[in-house]
Amino acid sequence: MRCLVFCDALHDVYLNLIVKYANPELEIVKAYYFGDEFQSSSGIRLFPLDTIVNKESFDAAVIFFQETSLLRQIISKVYGNYFQYSVFDLDSFSSVCLSGAGQLELLRLDTQYKCPSDHHFICGDFSYYVSLDVKDEINDGSVKVRVGKFCSIGPGISFLLGVEHRTDWGTMYPFNRLLARECENTSSVASKGDIVIGNDVWIGANATILSGVSIGDGCIVGSNTVVSKSVEPYSIIVGNPGRVAKRRFSSDKIDMLSEMKWWDWDYQRLFDALDIIQSENVEALYSYWKSSEEE
Ligand SMILES: CC(C)(COP(=O)(O)OP(=O)(O)OC[C@H]1O[C@@H](n2cnc3c(N)ncnc32)[C@H](O)[C@@H]1OP(=O)(O)O)[C@@H](O)C(=O)NCCC(=O)NCCS
Repeated sequence: MRCLVFCDALHDVYLNLIVKYANPELEIVKAYYFGDEFQSSSGIRLFPLDTIVNKESFDAAVIFFQETSLLRQIISKVYGNYFQYSVFDLDSFSSVCLSGAGQLELLRLDTQYKCPSDHHFICGDFSYYVSLDVKDEINDGSVKVRVGKFCSIGPGISFLLGVEHRTDWGTMYPFNRLLARECENTSSVASKGDIVIGNDVWIGANATILSGVSIGDGCIVGSNTVVSKSVEPYSIIVGNPGRVAKRRFSSDKIDMLSEMKWWDWDYQRLFDALDIIQSENVEALYSYWKSSEEE
């Protein structure tokens, strides 16, 4: 499979992984870089993007770059309708590599993907997001969004972490911040506390999560939902204000999942069980876990 790679220095590590782990059928025909010619630590030479006019033929393009939509546009401009090719956007699924059949395969622990974290957004292993906005005018790290492992966070998500105006004051207008007058009360924005997202939580498009809220393991937040109160594991929360429409499983199955905590397993054990975990058969997963515990 002939493959084009687009990479920036930040993601150089993934080029190394492709070289190290990819099926031998994968042939990197050319690698491009945003900027001057660049020698990857994997030994691959990356060419400036403007040399793409050479039009190498390829079967798949792999993108290791923050601005994936821009690269997709470039590929489609140069190559016409790029949908006839596979474009693997590894920015969201970076713990994968290509097999010869063009299939994506999970890599192992040492290559686990981690979304960038900062002083107010802590992201667990393998969790990914499409686009999100942490609104935090306090911005001193005193409150945080804490996301567990293996979460799928859709587009347009707002975490209203530190943007509560003081409803208990005579005014909610932030005089002290906007007019820069000397005031005894310095903080006119507040927060109800950390936002805690469990493990394996799926947050649908354009959801809003308010400060002080905890969303339990395995929950679904429906699209456009406003979550203002904490929710128990494996709930489906929908609407504004968010209400629990139902639980995802019977309480027996929820107990099993909560006891197993598969997201904390040794990742090798987890990857070996992917076919079971990606099925409705929670009982089989539980048996697998019990038997591997006994080994
Ligand atoms: C929540 C969701 C997953 C559906 O889950 P489900 O188990 O199939 O639930 P159902 O469709 O049976 O809906 C259950 C109830 O919630 C309501 N509901 C479902 N999604 C809703 C939403 N986004 N907002 C408001 N109500 C919603 C249904 O009308 C139904 O109401 P009822 O109990 O009064 O009949 C889906 O509706 C959703 O929001 N998906 C998000 C998709 C998305 O944003 N993807 C982004 C890319 S990651």
